[in-house]
Amino acid sequence: MTDQAFVTLATNDIYCQGALVLGQSLRRHRLTRKLVVLITPQVSDLLRRILSKVFDEVIEVNLIDSADYIHLAFLKRPELGLTLTKLHCWTLTHYSKCVFLDADTLVLSNVDELFDRGEFSAAPDPGWPDCFNSGVFVFQPSLHTHKLLLQHAMEHGSFDGADQGLLNSFFRNWSTTDIHKHLPFIYNLSSNTMYTYSPAFKQFGSSAKVVHFLGSMKPWNYKYNPQSGSVLEQGSVSSSQHQAAFLHLWWTVYQNNVLPLYKSVQAENLYFQSHHHHHHDYKDDDDK
Ligand code: UDP
Ligand code: GLC
Ligand code: MN
Repeated sequence: MTDQAFVTLATNDIYCQGALVLGQSLRRHRLTRKLVVLITPQVSDLLRRILSKVFDEVIEVNLIDSADYIHLAFLKRPELGLTLTKLHCWTLTHYSKCVFLDADTLVLSNVDELFDRGEFSAAPDPGWPDCFNSGVFVFQPSLHTHKLLLQHAMEHGSFDGADQGLLNSFFRNWSTTDIHKHLPFIYNLSSNTMYTYSPAFKQFGSSAKVVHFLGSMKPWNYKYNPQSGSVLEQGSVSSSQHQAAFLHLWWTVYQNNVLPLYKSVQAENLYFQSHHHHHHDYKDDDDK
């Protein structure tokens, strides 16, 4: 399937760490679609090279920033205005259908069946289930839709100052029209919200397919001890047992499937440098 893709977004080197873990987690479960990461100009050359080892396409796009400080302050996440950059995913018209996944998600099993769904499919937001969460969604690239989304942003803004508010008001029939567009919660299981319905987690949690580390504490903000394989909690943030297991899994993928990429890129650099020096020496000799 070369005309379908999984797509994510990373606007800086830190979110790239998440994108790399996500990409490798997809590869660990029989990847049958293309892998695409959208990046913005501030992503470093080193990270671009590492991303290109995991993703089929690393595509640079412009940063779109809502600068909607009032709404974002309300959400207490001033940095999320730039998640409007996500809207660029609709411009990937060389694909007929895509699944967008936030860079803070982790895939636990093959999720190809998501491609059976149509635009716009997403799972309920745990904080307000009549809205979908925009961390995982099925969409159909189209320049026309892209234009309408930007137009909608200009005319109406976004009620959370970022992409989720905008997408929920644009696809506002989501909660009432077509149940096939409601992805089951196991495709976007928030790992760090306290479940108010914990018997459901006991019953269904083990069938989770995509975990979403929603909220300001991301896996990469924790400390990891590679010897003991334990994830250390910082400050007063206390998490439940299931969150600890998901965090541990994220760090295991990071350790086993992402860190080695740094080493191989470093090795390539050394090779390049020695090659380059050799060339210089040769030239110097020539001059004598
Ligand atoms: N993102 C990014 N750079 C940022 C913030 C967000 O690239 O500085 C992207 C990234 O793909 C991230 C998504 O936008 O997963 C949504 O942001 P986040 O996951 O932090 O929001 P949350 O799911 O916690 O509400
Ligand atoms: C949401 C989503 C995230 C989105 C952000 C801003 O909680 O998890 O994907 O980018 O808020 O709307
Ligand atoms: Mn997220």
